[in-house]
Amino acid sequence: MANTRCPFVLQLLTLSLINLYLGNSVVSVTSSISGHPSEPKEELDRVLDLPGQTFNATFAHYSGYVTVNEESGRALFYWFFEAIEDPDSKPLVLWLNGGPGCSSIAYGEAEEVGPFHIRPDGKTLYLNPYSWNQVSNILFLDSPVGVGFSYSNTSSDLLNNGDRRTAADSLIFLLRWLERFPQYKGRDFYITGESYAGHYVPQLSQAIVRYNLAAKEKTINLKGYMVGNALFDDYHDHLGVFQFMWAAGMISDQTYKLLNLICDFDSFIHTKDSCNKIQDVASEEVGDIDPYSIFTPTCTANVSQSNQLRKRMHMVGSVKEKYDPCTEAHSVAYFNLPEVQKALHVIPEFAPSKWVTCSELVNNHWKDSPRTVLDIYHELIHSGLRIWVISGDTDSVLPVTSTRYSIDALKLPTVGPWHAWYDDGQVGGWTQEYAGLTFVSVRGAGHEVPLHRPKQALTILKSFLSGSSMSTSKQVSDI
Ligand SMILES: *[C@@H]1O[C@H](CO)[C@@H](O)[C@H](O)[C@H]1NC(C)=O
Ligand SMILES: *[C@@H]1O[C@H](CO)[C@@H](O)[C@H](O)[C@H]1NC(C)=O
Ligand SMILES: *[C@@H]1O[C@H](CO)[C@@H](O)[C@H](O)[C@H]1NC(C)=O
Repeated sequence: MANTRCPFVLQLLTLSLINLYLGNSVVSVTSSISGHPSEPKEELDRVLDLPGQTFNATFAHYSGYVTVNEESGRALFYWFFEAIEDPDSKPLVLWLNGGPGCSSIAYGEAEEVGPFHIRPDGKTLYLNPYSWNQVSNILFLDSPVGVGFSYSNTSSDLLNNGDRRTAADSLIFLLRWLERFPQYKGRDFYITGESYAGHYVPQLSQAIVRYNLAAKEKTINLKGYMVGNALFDDYHDHLGVFQFMWAAGMISDQTYKLLNLICDFDSFIHTKDSCNKIQDVASEEVGDIDPYSIFTPTCTANVSQSNQLRKRMHMVGSVKEKYDPCTEAHSVAYFNLPEVQKALHVIPEFAPSKWVTCSELVNNHWKDSPRTVLDIYHELIHSGLRIWVISGDTDSVLPVTSTRYSIDALKLPTVGPWHAWYDDGQVGGWTQEYAGLTFVSVRGAGHEVPLHRPKQALTILKSFLSGSSMSTSKQVSDI
């Protein structure tokens, strides 16, 4: 089924374009867009039954590897879910988690917007009633290599990941994935993600926009992107983090002042010792809470803790829903089961010895991480993409204050004034529309908005995809 017509001419052209726009040191010139002829085709990636699946899925789903670089032997792992109804008429949405080093399958799929969530037994699955495949075809990508099931045959690759190569490899991934799923070529395409994906999402969008311009084609028909609790700009994000922690009563006045004095101009990812020291003091003052969701309990089970941005922990305390702060531990149990890996077409030879939600190795060796992506926002706003920025307002890691400072720094004219938006009779959060960008906050959600407020997150996705403003209707549904 895959379209393999004259791959070579296309290859050379597209590669030189990618080199041109992404910096050639990171993109191997021997890569080709249309993959190896021996690579699996769509049907071979089809996932049938998963262990612990106690229900019949009414939609098709696929998982496997896409080689993004032959020379080093880099392959990215994906899991793709068709829309529940009428996938041919629905857009394609890519979801990316951040870290850097965290798996989109661990977070995005298994506890946020994916259809299959994992029960506390770590063995059985249940269907997420607010899965984003209700309104779209949704693709989860473990990126870059060393994350989740994505791998490289060149072990030094895992010590040399950075923003630039992540974007370049992800672009090749998409072009080749579309060769495997040609029915999605030219389909309306959106990129979504959170946290450190606040870098990945605009960077990949920029790579696609530039690629499309140069190649004069729209195989990847990118229409827009949406990020949640995203990293934008180290300076403005720092200001907002410290202010949020102080205003929420988590740190002392003295520490607040020192944080601003010592860390404001520091990098988020490559932090100086002096800033690390005062961050440690802050962390001591804050105590043992979940910084990704400051009002909900922490997981008290014996699970390993990970650091800052990279990890995120849990979910929300809606009174009606049973709150489970240990969702990550369930993924670790499930995705390490050999029979689960087999069903997902993971090749044992390339699988990590232990699958983890976030790779310390990748995180600790991260290379290039620009201090800001606001310049990319200006370029992409200019290119006409639909850009939405959402923020769970109980996250202290990339809080709503950071997002607001960063948006303010873009100096965009307001086209729709600040107002509360409603979901089922309740204020879901607040919103403001700027020329080229829409801001939406989510009341009571932590870092992972769809984990804490799954229904509201789906409502936001629907508005985003249809390009309509958040609702001001106070109507209550009668279910
Ligand atoms: C799934 O579908 C099969 C075949 O249609 C049926 O026999 C089975 O009972 C279904 N299982 C569930 C859990 O609904
Ligand atoms: C990695 O190396 C193995 C063994 O040579 C090979 O079968 C596999 O295709 C390589 N992976 C990639 C992505 O090139
Ligand atoms: C927690 O888990 C670690 C590693 O699995 C183990 O070494 C440690 O003893 C456990 N601690 C408790 C209190 O169970």
